[in-house]
Amino acid sequence: MLEARNVTREFPGVKALDDVSVRFEKGEVHALMGENGAGKSTLMKIITGIYRPDAGAVYVDGEKAALRSYSDSAKYDISIVHQEIQVIPESSVAENIVLDKLGQFRGPLGGLDWKRINDTAQRYLDMVELDVKPTDAIGRMTAAQKQLIQIAKALSSDARYILMDEPTSSLTQYEAQNLFRIIRRLKAEDRCVIFVSHKIEEVLEICDRVTVLRDGRVIGTRDVADIDRDELVRMMIGRSENIEHLGRLDISDEVVLEARHIGRGGMFEDMGLKLHRGEILGLYGLVGAGRTEFARLLVGADRRDTGDILIKGQPAKIDCLRDAVEKYGLGYVTENRKEEGLILPFNVRDNMVLPILRKLRDKPFHISPRRCKDVTREMIGRMNVKAPSQETRVESLSGGNQQKVSIGKWLAAGCDILIIDEPTVGVDVGAKRQIHELIWDLAKNEGKSIILISSDMTEMITLARRILVFKNYKIVSEIDHLNDREYSYAEVSERIGAAMT
Ligand SMILES: Nc1ncnc2c1ncn2[C@@H]1O[C@H](COP(=O)(O)OP(=O)(O)OP(=O)(O)O)[C@@H](O)[C@H]1O
Ligand SMILES: [Mg+2]
Repeated sequence: MLEARNVTREFPGVKALDDVSVRFEKGEVHALMGENGAGKSTLMKIITGIYRPDAGAVYVDGEKAALRSYSDSAKYDISIVHQEIQVIPESSVAENIVLDKLGQFRGPLGGLDWKRINDTAQRYLDMVELDVKPTDAIGRMTAAQKQLIQIAKALSSDARYILMDEPTSSLTQYEAQNLFRIIRRLKAEDRCVIFVSHKIEEVLEICDRVTVLRDGRVIGTRDVADIDRDELVRMMIGRSENIEHLGRLDISDEVVLEARHIGRGGMFEDMGLKLHRGEILGLYGLVGAGRTEFARLLVGADRRDTGDILIKGQPAKIDCLRDAVEKYGLGYVTENRKEEGLILPFNVRDNMVLPILRKLRDKPFHISPRRCKDVTREMIGRMNVKAPSQETRVESLSGGNQQKVSIGKWLAAGCDILIIDEPTVGVDVGAKRQIHELIWDLAKNEGKSIILISSDMTEMITLARRILVFKNYKIVSEIDHLNDREYSYAEVSERIGAAMT
């Protein structure tokens, strides 16, 4: 078995882990849960030798493990699927999968045996049911495909302990179910899977035991069979969650954005929508239903073949994202904030002011540092971003706080129409609530108009009064909480469910 004993690890200004002891046993799927910043990833990185603990140690089968760097983890039969997608875009699928053990693929003359590399990669691609070729380049693959490649990579080492840090965050339900089948098989082979997730339903479905961390401390380890949703939430945030039904904003008559007859060859045909001032309009659907692709056409990130976009009644000429932001005040908060939305090695301030640098000049060719600081201070306050300082690198913030920075930068840019794509994926229950309140407040009290893309039914019904249901790149239904009468939460969710089938 694999054990962390009395592990403590500090980063400047934060004790990420405080005397943490957990035991992971063979033949179990062990969930690790906790709010953003609770210390889950830090613990995973200590177990794989990426970080060294300040105190305490990792034990494998009762022996203290000498984990000096990541490359030592293989010796102890440990492999990891990282939370951040870590693939090398310029290389092939197979190269990424066998990366850590290229040495095993030397041919008789010392060169690499490419046939064996590709065959090996193919075997693990089959396992995760990913339909790409080992020789394909990774560059333009989707987040889900990259995620599956990382999983294939972790499986390819045939390790006994497999750590998965939020492996399903960009997978569709179908792909997640396939991953669960793989996890069940690993368990049957008496291996151990450590499964980090924010999704309570997943944990209840797939895991045997769950350990909850809060502020770097272990709150407890429980058998999943003996625990329910409410108790788990209480362990994570220290109180009960209460879901309020909000989605009932009055909708003004003023249309701020209208899309008509939008088409793109082979993808969309004759799509349209209207967004009113101060409205939160929901685009609901499963991952892969075409909502992000549609949003990208609206903001000019991709080209449309047909159709018009009107902003405040006037035809808009949007050829790129910059047009959308600068000419029309239309911002797009992307779904994969780590890849597109933020520049992770940059600090909070640089991320915040990047889209508006030109507005922050105090004289030609000179950007005013003071104005950068002022704008950032205002946004940090308004969005309630928890960061030690403006100079903190965004990559060291928790997921929820990263998301607030990526919404904040478009507000700083003066956008009054925002498309917000899956704002709470990978965000814990506490931060999720803050983001919901933020979105609600922007619409209700600041008159911002928001298109919210989400696959989270509760989030959708809580926030959006009108909901467009997407399925296979089409809008199959429009649901309004207050259409002819007031619908209850259950009725709205039932109607969404019916539209999806
Ligand atoms: N490299 C680092 N430098 C500085 N601080 C860090 C670093 N890595 C993590 N932290 C801090 O340590 C704490 C724990 O972070 P960690 O990434 O382990 O949380 P997590 O539970 O994985 O959160 P999430 O659910 O958002 O992934 C946070 O306060 C985080 O800001
Ligand atoms: Mg994490």
